[in-house]
Amino acid sequence: MKTQYCYFPDQFDENERKEIIYKYSKYLFKASVGASEEPSNDWRSSNIAWMKDDSKVYSKISKIFKDANKQFFGIDVDYLDLDIQFTEYVAEEEGHYKTHIDSQLWELNNCFDRKLSLVILLNDPHEFEGGEFELTNLLTQKSGKVEELLNPGTAIVFPGIFPHKVNKITKGKRYTLVAWAYGNPWR
Ligand SMILES: [Fe+2]
Repeated sequence: MKTQYCYFPDQFDENERKEIIYKYSKYLFKASVGASEEPSNDWRSSNIAWMKDDSKVYSKISKIFKDANKQFFGIDVDYLDLDIQFTEYVAEEEGHYKTHIDSQLWELNNCFDRKLSLVILLNDPHEFEGGEFELTNLLTQKSGKVEELLNPGTAIVFPGIFPHKVNKITKGKRYTLVAWAYGNPWR
């Protein structure tokens, strides 16, 4: 592994990003945390929709994961099964997601794990305040803002075992596309 995260600019142009927001805003529902059924505002406040059937988005994301893994991470990943999520953080709902990891390492009976995670900002960062995405450096244990994510259309990729969070959004709405690539369990 060469880096903590990598990024790929200009993956979705403005029209593509607006189209995703328009299309998937209709399917949003309140997110829950992990396997729990009840939405938890304390840990996470966001609305999500799944994007399983969008082949254009799916193939683009798949290519980004492949490039990221080949150039930066070299992790055992299966590109055939991605999960892609459209996510909305709303200031009036105090949208946020506290520090968490995407791979549940303590669930030892997993048949597969979320190996790589991806985030892309879909709307203009001037449309909201707060909502910064932060990633924790495992060596220093320090959390830092990922500034590249503020460029709409730039894809950020990082291993799902790195702790990350979304700070509380204080104004407007923040739209992101989030995806995971799976693979054999961590060992
Ligand atoms: Fe996450």
